[in-house]
Amino acid sequence: MRTTTLGTHGPQVGVIGLGAMGMSFMYDMATPRDDATSVSVIHQALDLGVTLIDTADVYGPHTNEELVGRALAGRRDRAVLATKVGRVVVDPTGGQDNLPVIASDGRPEHVRASIDASLRRLGTDYVDLYQLHRVDPAVPIEESWGAMAEAVAAGKARHLGLSEVTVEEIRRAQAVHPVTTVQSEFSLWTRDVQAEVLPYCERHGIGFLPFSPLGRGFLAGRFASFGELPHNDHRRRLPRFQQDNLRANLDIATGVRVVADRIGATPAQVALAWLLAQGPHVVPIPGTKTPRYLADNAAAADVRLSPSDLAELDAIPAPVGARY
Ligand SMILES: NC(=O)c1ccc[n+]([C@@H]2O[C@H](COP(=O)([O-])OP(=O)(O)OC[C@H]3O[C@@H](n4cnc5c(N)ncnc54)[C@H](OP(=O)(O)O)[C@@H]3O)[C@@H](O)[C@H]2O)c1
Repeated sequence: MRTTTLGTHGPQVGVIGLGAMGMSFMYDMATPRDDATSVSVIHQALDLGVTLIDTADVYGPHTNEELVGRALAGRRDRAVLATKVGRVVVDPTGGQDNLPVIASDGRPEHVRASIDASLRRLGTDYVDLYQLHRVDPAVPIEESWGAMAEAVAAGKARHLGLSEVTVEEIRRAQAVHPVTTVQSEFSLWTRDVQAEVLPYCERHGIGFLPFSPLGRGFLAGRFASFGELPHNDHRRRLPRFQQDNLRANLDIATGVRVVADRIGATPAQVALAWLLAQGPHVVPIPGTKTPRYLADNAAAADVRLSPSDLAELDAIPAPVGARY
């Protein structure tokens, strides 16, 4: 796998990473988890050079970090391990479709207590990347970020990252401690970051980690109707996945498939290759718990899109429905 560096001073990673969330959380919650397969997917990832493994303490909650920790036992030094702090489950089943209700908690005392708990679950004494999952509107970013910088000073985290932030928030954080990465939703159907955040990151030597790079599976051609979504699944409450919107958005998935068929790639690979073409600082973190999808996604690192392929993908229209 080709590699790149996260930020100016960050670690080297394969240009495609792995998001572990869906192995434990948010998607298809009614189906029993197959942790053994998920662990083997993480092992497969490391073998293929997919070294950046992304989790968060809120995923599960907690069980996703435990799963990643089990998978990395004896392999810790082969992974670039990223976790997050700042989101908490306030009601495990009280949301729509019996899904968890989640809130932000960026208080310094919460951050200080959380890093040790994450390290225990992950079975390691440091994480490579510690990310603020969301800026807590009730806490100045300098306070949350300052507490995270204490984790770096204590050797518990090597680098710090932000998630879903504005340029102004990045600037405020940088004044306290270097920002190594920004993780935000970015894909062929969520391109807001192209206006300001993505170019800012490139100019300032900050790595950019697109989350939900496959449009939560939609761009890979997984869902053609609302009824195909599993029960107890986060996508069931997102506006773009509601039946009428989903139907209107099928042209987007078709546009990706047309390019994929022409160049002999899969739609998922085209969606990821389009992201890689947005700059050397972009490292998508597609989520999967399925061995053949992992192999598919890893091979996207070698898919080259021509200028006319890129122009055709750039011309895909914006989706119907908000992302949240
Ligand atoms: N910072 C944040 O606030 C935030 C928010 C959301 C996500 N994230 C991170 O981003 C990661 C990825 O995002 P995501 O999981 O929401 O969305 P995603 O990567 O866009 O899509 C995941 C979905 O696509 C399917 N899939 C994956 N590869 C495929 C392939 N090659 N062909 C067909 N289907 C494929 C997966 O199926 P299976 O699971 O069935 O294999 C899953 O249903 C998460 O794991 C998490 O680490 C961060």
